[in-house]
Amino acid sequence: MRQAINIEFQNHVKTFQDQVNRELESLDIPMEPHYLYDPVRYVSKGVGKRLRPILVMLVCEKYGADKTDALNAGLAVEMLHNFTLVHDDIMDQDSIRHGQQTVHKHWDESTAILAGDGIYAIAQLLMSRVKSNPLQAVRAFNQATLMVCEGQAYDKEFENDSSVSLDKYIIMIEKKTGWLIGLCAELGGILADLDQGLISCLRSYGLNLGIAFQIQDDILEITSNAKDMGKSLGSDVEAGKQTVLSIMAREKYHQKWDENFEKWSTLDVKKRMFEMKTFIEQNGILSDAQNLAKTYIEKAHQELIKFSPQIDDLHRFSEMVLNRKK
Ligand code: IPE
Ligand code: IPE
Ligand code: MG
Ligand code: MG
Repeated sequence: MRQAINIEFQNHVKTFQDQVNRELESLDIPMEPHYLYDPVRYVSKGVGKRLRPILVMLVCEKYGADKTDALNAGLAVEMLHNFTLVHDDIMDQDSIRHGQQTVHKHWDESTAILAGDGIYAIAQLLMSRVKSNPLQAVRAFNQATLMVCEGQAYDKEFENDSSVSLDKYIIMIEKKTGWLIGLCAELGGILADLDQGLISCLRSYGLNLGIAFQIQDDILEITSNAKDMGKSLGSDVEAGKQTVLSIMAREKYHQKWDENFEKWSTLDVKKRMFEMKTFIEQNGILSDAQNLAKTYIEKAHQELIKFSPQIDDLHRFSEMVLNRKK
């Protein structure tokens, strides 16, 4: 029975994903100037999971929002997401995204900065097509974007800072990743004209889901591989990023972790990642981090239960996010 529901949900998600991909393919992006629009087209054709527009569409569907509004808002958040990725890849010096070279590697940094700006403007134009509660929707969109920038700022400030606590890390990832996923759920509520209380619960659901998503992403950075993930891995280690794994290992093992970390610093990135992975698996850090992600999924579900006791597609969506392998 559970299996049947799952397959039905997966097919449903796939329908939304296909629709988003088709719409992104047919976006009316001009040809000239090539300097701007070639990379914009390159990014919009990249293969992403489209989780954010799917979430917008699921919430819109649950609460009966207009389907065209749902699609436009979904496309807008997907473009916003892609804009953050283009600039994030410059900031993190990553070379692969969505299974292809990052924009700054394929072209150069100036091209990638401008392409990101252009993609952001396209996202705003897509948002301006929304007809239900447009001002409220655009305000939420811009508020979330600013929070992502704050999160990215903390992410950079925390590089090589071994005093960063798990609490500070959670604040950072809530901003850099949670707010955009929170926005998706919130937009569904705004477009369906729900009351403020429900909209806040939906945003909190998305924020907690986003935190779990980023914890899972940090785990996959070290346990998965670049081919499955479609992006270059290892930059976290190279840049001295504070991730859930490094922080939990440090907080649990103090000196033992610090000594090992110091010892590995002379190794190349691949070997360093291997040593870290071994330590993390053997010392229970991996399961601690997985449990932490589950805790945030539970928090997300508690928000849903506040207004609807039944298990529905939003629960299924968060389970899917938690169990993702890429
Ligand atoms: C990547 O997000 C950026 C993070 C917040 C970790 P996704 O994994 O959802 O990106 P896509 O699916 O490759 O676009
Ligand atoms: C994800 O950042 C958040 C944003 C892009 C705003 P990361 O740097 O942790 O994600 P990946 O690993 O590049 O996808
Ligand atoms: Mg990155
Ligand atoms: Mg980053």
